[in-house]
Amino acid sequence: MTDREPVLDPALMRKHYRAEGIDETELADHPMEQFGRWFALAARDGLLYEPNAMVVSTADAEGRPSSRTVLLKQYDEQGFVFFTNYESRKARDLAANPYVSLLFPWHAMARQVIVSGTARRTGRDETAAYFRTRPHGSQLGAWTSTQSAVISSRADLDTAYAELATRYPEGEQVPVPPNWGGFRIAPQSVEFWQGRENRLHDRLRYVTREDGSWRVERLSP
Ligand SMILES: Cc1cc2nc3c(=O)[nH]c(=O)nc-3n(C[C@H](O)[C@H](O)[C@H](O)COP(=O)(O)O)c2cc1C
Repeated sequence: MTDREPVLDPALMRKHYRAEGIDETELADHPMEQFGRWFALAARDGLLYEPNAMVVSTADAEGRPSSRTVLLKQYDEQGFVFFTNYESRKARDLAANPYVSLLFPWHAMARQVIVSGTARRTGRDETAAYFRTRPHGSQLGAWTSTQSAVISSRADLDTAYAELATRYPEGEQVPVPPNWGGFRIAPQSVEFWQGRENRLHDRLRYVTREDGSWRVERLSP
């Protein structure tokens, strides 16, 4: 232990949250509008490194959960969209069980947004429209990766990429891989969490009613 850095004890790490609270009367009627307000603040001033990074949790057919970070690429009244490989672990989970949890960990603002909902694939046109906005290298990367599969070496990956780069040089249009595309998460509940003093945080959760409208409930911290 002697030549190592001193060990940091996480039990002693403690931040005091002093932020202003959130009040029911200030909330938007629709959770996606409220998300837009918070997202705009999160994206302001470069306070957060990647405010559109979110943790997506899925569960397989046996209910075994798994989580990973992805990038939010679009949001609107219909929900939250990310893009991925349709043969990846998460996509296989979603084919068996469409229920998803999303979490935006905006720690620098003492905030988090937690979404519970169901996923369905985006249409091919929507996927293609987004794919074309990706840098050339990322387009080739989407073809190269057999995401979530065990591979023999880094070198094999680099070789596969180099072969594709020869076939589709910069400037040449790369087709959309058939096993790649988006998922749109339609929210069933959206919780806005604001850290406050003495651990008495604000938690306001939108929940859908049968008729598609939303009600807001306050949760104990
Ligand atoms: C900041 C960040 C952003 C990421 N964005 C994406 C993304 O948009 N889509 C994606 O498929 N993987 C993304 N990844 C990689 C995933 O976390 C994960 O490794 C990959 O999707 C495979 O997950 P799975 O095997 O659970 O399906 C990102 C990772 C990080 C750390």
